[in-house]
Amino acid sequence: MIAPHGGTLINRVVEGDERNSLLAKAAGLPVVSLNSRETSDLEMIAIGAMSPLAGFMNEADYNGVVNNMHLASGVAWPLPVVLAPKDGEAVAAGSEVALVGEDGTVYGIMAVDSVYQPDKKKELTQCYAGDEEHPAWGYLASTGATYIGGVITVANVPAYAKHNEYRLTPTQTRAAFAAKGWNTVVAFQTRNPIHRAHEYLTKVALEQTDGLLVHPLVGDTKSDDIPSDVRMECYHALLNKYYPLDRTMLGVYPQAMRYGGPREAILHALCRQNYGCTHIIIGRDHAGVGSYYGTFDAQEIFGKFAEGEILINTLMFEHAFYCKLTGGMASTKSSPATNDQKIFLSGTKVREMLLNGERPPVEFTRPEVADILIASYAIPAQA
Ligand code: ADX
Repeated sequence: MIAPHGGTLINRVVEGDERNSLLAKAAGLPVVSLNSRETSDLEMIAIGAMSPLAGFMNEADYNGVVNNMHLASGVAWPLPVVLAPKDGEAVAAGSEVALVGEDGTVYGIMAVDSVYQPDKKKELTQCYAGDEEHPAWGYLASTGATYIGGVITVANVPAYAKHNEYRLTPTQTRAAFAAKGWNTVVAFQTRNPIHRAHEYLTKVALEQTDGLLVHPLVGDTKSDDIPSDVRMECYHALLNKYYPLDRTMLGVYPQAMRYGGPREAILHALCRQNYGCTHIIIGRDHAGVGSYYGTFDAQEIFGKFAEGEILINTLMFEHAFYCKLTGGMASTKSSPATNDQKIFLSGTKVREMLLNGERPPVEFTRPEVADILIASYAIPAQA
């Protein structure tokens, strides 16, 4: 089985007596409240999905990551994972705080070893190549001016109303892969319904590997991305009809989308390594937004790391499309089609079609997926 990133699979969740005493202690501590992204990160850290992180980043790790994509320990890490106390939450280094969710749930405790003032403009340009129109700025500008770092200990992993059976920890996915006898597993990260081009990438990958982990991101996404509940319906419909279920597994990935393009591709890869995947699909403009990143920047960035720093392998893909010339899915690597022989629809175009009640063509999306999307767009609250 592939090693976790940094060598050890972190587990910051306590149970039984340890859990009871942690909760009793938390009740007497000053509170730091977590927003939705911070809650996702807490979950990811606690279950080991962000190994070797054992807490939110301290100043040395944060600076190392922003400046040169490495933690202070020298381990590769591409993006900040930080906690910003909210207005009125004063925190001192060397203290302990209770970590509390938006719904009042006490998740656990953080031993604060660092309180620091980040340069958020630098974070934006270094990590996201962004300006103030980039969604990363929308988030960064909404959080407090101070970050706090330190190891967390979690008594209550965030609970969710839906899809809990797909909320597998890295320990659970690793056990599942072993039980299935899969030595090589390719992860498919997505924040979209699986359209024909996505399906093509996963099918090509399945030709090379023992198994496929369809691993949709279900943390926060932009308001115009399709909600995860709708996407889950699409994944079920698609997988049940068009995938070999003995070689395919569905799990959810509880991280918030950063729209960090290349750096986020590294994050997605390292976390999937922690889940036990040996390969990850990186296609065109992975984790991109607008025109901030070059089409293949998220592939090229892997070359910036020394051999052995990132153990998971990448399966990289050219822009895939339905090819009228060859009558199937293809890319410029496999088909000589001219542009007018390629069917490619942008996400924006598809959203427009769905809003107008129009059915995207079968060359773009499977009818079963189109039905679910059309129905979801017909609900006035989402229109
Ligand atoms: S992402 O934010 O999760 O990257 P999306 O769900 O659209 O967005 O993409 C999932 C994966 O499929 C990414 O690796 C992306 O690069 C890849 N991908 C999406 N569409 C295409 C396409 N037409 N051709 C090649 N790769 C694609």
